[in-house]
Amino acid sequence: MSETHEWWQSGIIYQVYPRSFQDTSGDGVGDLRGVIRRLDYLQWLGVDAVWLSPINPSPMADFGYDISDYCAIDPLFGTMEDFDELLSQAHRRGLKVMLDFVPNHTSDQHPWFRESRSSRTNPKRDWYIWRDPAPGGGPPNNWLSNFGGGAWEWDEATDQYYLHAFLKEQPDLNWRNPEVQQAMLDVLRFWLDRGVDGFRIDVIWHIVKDEEFRDNPPNPEYEPGMPPHHQVLATYSTDRPEVHDIIGLMRSVIDDYDERMMVGEIYLPVERLVTYYGAHGTGVHLPFNFQLINLPWKARAIESAIENYEASLPPYGWPNWVLGNHDQPRIASRVGARQARVAAMMLLTLRGTPTMYYGDELGMQNVPIPPNRIHDPSEINNPGLGMGRDPERTPMQWSAEEHAGFSKREPWLPLAKNYREANVAVQRDDPQSMLTLYRRLIDLRRSQPALAIGDYHAIQGEGDILAYLRTDESSHFLVVLNLGSQECEFRSDYPIARGRIAVSTHLDRQGENVTGSVRLRPDEGVVIDRAEV
Ligand code: GLC
Repeated sequence: MSETHEWWQSGIIYQVYPRSFQDTSGDGVGDLRGVIRRLDYLQWLGVDAVWLSPINPSPMADFGYDISDYCAIDPLFGTMEDFDELLSQAHRRGLKVMLDFVPNHTSDQHPWFRESRSSRTNPKRDWYIWRDPAPGGGPPNNWLSNFGGGAWEWDEATDQYYLHAFLKEQPDLNWRNPEVQQAMLDVLRFWLDRGVDGFRIDVIWHIVKDEEFRDNPPNPEYEPGMPPHHQVLATYSTDRPEVHDIIGLMRSVIDDYDERMMVGEIYLPVERLVTYYGAHGTGVHLPFNFQLINLPWKARAIESAIENYEASLPPYGWPNWVLGNHDQPRIASRVGARQARVAAMMLLTLRGTPTMYYGDELGMQNVPIPPNRIHDPSEINNPGLGMGRDPERTPMQWSAEEHAGFSKREPWLPLAKNYREANVAVQRDDPQSMLTLYRRLIDLRRSQPALAIGDYHAIQGEGDILAYLRTDESSHFLVVLNLGSQECEFRSDYPIARGRIAVSTHLDRQGENVTGSVRLRPDEGVVIDRAEV
């Protein structure tokens, strides 16, 4: 496979949220030695690359997405030696390591910002976005912070506002400044030189702002109860044409090294999303495709979204799919435990690089967080709007031991109540568990080029059925998914539905012959190997 495709095309990415994966220091927060301890698990699971959410020094106002030193490791997570060991141990097992790169903003505790705010004449003043008040007083424009309130913070000492798209503890860098560009590209080189294989780039569509700082237009679809920053459309604060020049600079650094890549975090409609591939070889390798997170879980809606996405890709654009991450409700909570198995089958059989979120392979659910244990500033600043992200960041459930084998003491976020039944130790020996299903699907994808890198052909489905073919010169797989809770039948006019079931979501139909039609139970999906007739 790797002869014709890059590792990030044929492979599977697995996101680790380091605070919640494995604690070894005994402080209730995960760490790098914990990730090292679990590399065998990741290898056994069959994924190809591990993406670590930020591990750099941080005051943790936004749990690591507020960085105060890009070229070091936060002591909470370990040391640079631990990191180097993680990298070499991962590489020894054939696993790639991707880091989170957070270019839009630093922490307000970063020495750059401390200097920048120290005086208007400081050489780093222009490293951030400082503006005078509007002519009549007040903030320079109507931009809003994604975490609630305005995006401008008044600085008493120097009588100007600075911009922060997220918390006021996360001031936005000024990427129009060539010194900022060079300093941040050096950060990429620092980690590439250490051997890092790729980067997930945080809020990449945010990093360049309108040169004239025009007001954002009101959002006609805004209704009370929606996240408050949706009151305006982010027309002038995000997705500016100049962002592609900056991405081009990052890309040329990455391309100075062999086999490295970057995936961009981008929440935009498909027609805008695909522009982030850039002209050939100038954009991100993968702009994260979050459609399966945002769409209603309906067969027809997903079918047309896949079609539209496939049709929108530039010829050199490699697709990718995502079911969840540390900012989104768990897939098993969004679609239910039974449909989560169908979702797993979809993720691992669609054309394009799948990204898994730790614990989804166990069917982990959102964990209710008691008020006194809420950490996420997004929830604290906007209580009751459902913006909290703690529920999807709870500790990985390794075993039925106390604290789920995650830690020797009470973890920083509460564990799921059912962790004694839903954990790796229990599920790995259960032939019908979610974990067994994930392993089976991953194994099939790894062993079948038609699934990993083959073509995609839509098949018009009906009702709750979503069906498609994945093919290459030597093999053909038919995937039939029942996205509903009623039994249904898939039949086709010509003999597509002929073959043998390679895997079913319920893990009890393997080897069954299919001739012309297939009945699906509620919430069932099957992958049919058409060569095996
Ligand atoms: C991204 C991260 C999110 C963070 C935000 C600000 O969306 O995924 O966790 O809060 O950027 O850095």
